[in-house]
Amino acid sequence: MAATSPTHSPGGPPPGAPAGDPGSSTGPAGRVALGAAGRGTADDADDRGDVVGPLERGLAVLRWLAARADAGPAVGPRPAPLAEVARVCGLARATVDRVAATLAADGLVRQDGRTVTLAPRLAALGNAYLASCRIPDVLAETAARLADAFDESVSVAVPDGDGVRFVLQVTRRRAMSPVFRVGDLLPAERCAPGALFAADWSPAGWAAWRARVDTDPGYGGFPALWSPASHPAGTPIAEPGDVEGAAPGPDAGAVTGFAARAAAALEAGHAVDDQLVEAGLIAVAAPIRDRRPNSPTAGQVLAALSVVSHTSRHSARSLATDVLPRLRAVALAAEEALADDAAAPNGEADGWPDADLLRETKAELGSGYLQSMARGFAVLRAFGAGTREPTLAELARATGLPRATVRRSLLTFTHLRYVASAGRRFRLLPRVLELGYAAVTDISLAALAEPHLTELVAAVRESASVSVLAGDEIRYVARVAASRIVSVAVTIGTRFPAYPTAMGRVLLAGLPPQALAGQLARLPATGPTPRAVTDPDRLRALVAAADRDGYALVTGELEEGLQSLAVPLRDRAGRVVAAANVSMPAGRVPPEHARAVLLPALRTAAAAIEADLRIVTAYRTSPAV
Ligand code: PHB
Repeated sequence: MAATSPTHSPGGPPPGAPAGDPGSSTGPAGRVALGAAGRGTADDADDRGDVVGPLERGLAVLRWLAARADAGPAVGPRPAPLAEVARVCGLARATVDRVAATLAADGLVRQDGRTVTLAPRLAALGNAYLASCRIPDVLAETAARLADAFDESVSVAVPDGDGVRFVLQVTRRRAMSPVFRVGDLLPAERCAPGALFAADWSPAGWAAWRARVDTDPGYGGFPALWSPASHPAGTPIAEPGDVEGAAPGPDAGAVTGFAARAAAALEAGHAVDDQLVEAGLIAVAAPIRDRRPNSPTAGQVLAALSVVSHTSRHSARSLATDVLPRLRAVALAAEEALADDAAAPNGEADGWPDADLLRETKAELGSGYLQSMARGFAVLRAFGAGTREPTLAELARATGLPRATVRRSLLTFTHLRYVASAGRRFRLLPRVLELGYAAVTDISLAALAEPHLTELVAAVRESASVSVLAGDEIRYVARVAASRIVSVAVTIGTRFPAYPTAMGRVLLAGLPPQALAGQLARLPATGPTPRAVTDPDRLRALVAAADRDGYALVTGELEEGLQSLAVPLRDRAGRVVAAANVSMPAGRVPPEHARAVLLPALRTAAAAIEADLRIVTAYRTSPAV
């Protein structure tokens, strides 16, 4: 098994402890403790009062799949055999089959025979947390300006048990800058924000931290520390400040000095990370406190704003001297902005099943579908749009579910520390991001498109591809060939001139007028075939038609006898970022058939790709493609 069993499942506060307090972990050594209830199969609340057993089991399966996706060496979601899921999660195989079928019906995982893989749609859960906490929405622009001002990466992190969870990243791509993803978790003692958060810990919180340090000295529960991107295989283990080594390891310095650093950070009003994560990486962080007088976390450190650099550009001290005045001012402004912010979470409705659809799916799939689990996820999702810190009644209204159902879901989430309550109001906790958020959002357009192209090819039995514009050419980034003898030899990375191709035409249609004019001005006198349109006026008209119709059909212009039908793929902002096509030998498919039969199938696939793209890029600051 590639996943080195995480020894620590980052915990939320122990019952009764303040929200920012670290607590005991929920399960040892990568096994997700479910107790006797874990083996039940009933689709209802189980014998521990009102905790919804199926929902708890679904979350356990997602958590394990997520830990597996983040554990090296091959980082990323990958198929897990259902038998292994059953073994590791301590569940009956029949139970796992139903959990997997339900998660798959909701689109949270993909099921392929006897394996399951985390699916992009899972990011909707983390998006609900990110939308509901308002931090990325309120601070994204401020953070981007700060990153511009210093030409360094800037991040915002929040306390999550004894860890530090990233909720916003504005990165400067540089050779030596490991980049944590939104959703990644670092141990508090190994980064600047942790020292700020620890100021709010109670004695019980410190004890919980200490227990984690003792049980997980190698940071098995923090796969982000070990990301292959930042730690190429074979890099030696380092002590803090050891510039020779590169990877973190059991580390007395970070641990023994932590309480003192936390005290110093409280006193100074900022914290410095001098290569605590790894050699060369330095950061300075300022606290963002909760200034809302009636907030359950009033006065506590809500988040930390960090500027991150490298010893090749700065020392920890010079970085602090340079950035602190501005960093402090920006953090204070951020405090005010968050305190004044009265907007409702603006997460979008992204096709999440409503109560009616859940009922229909249940009717269709019968006992294989754990409706109580699916309803739980619908409740979680409802935090992302509508009311801020909703009441039970508001969640019932938003989901269309009975109050008793919503109540049991909330009890389950609270029990597992994904939700906290204060009075009648409920809020999501950053721990929701541990459900695979970083893994499923860290995905290329190619990987995102592939399963949809595969489905399309199965339906139309012609080859399908996705390409992007690269200068005056299109470049294939994904391709699924139909298993026919006559199919066109194209591989990923293949480039063709844009103008005589269908994908090129829809991509050109997405260009701003000046860029299109430039392309038209550079058309050659003769094309690859006699049919190729090289006259700028005629091509302009064809591009305009592709724009108007939303597709292009091109026959024999790139190659005699080859026909391609293409549609644009748009990002969240409506910009054309890529094109998808179906290609076929011209003789086999008359153009009318292509329009009548292939176009609807291609559009369905394109819409599915765009929907996934929207979900995984909702809080991504790097380009989508
Ligand atoms: C980061 O944003 O990557 C970061 C922030 C603070 C640290 C280390 C890394 O101490």
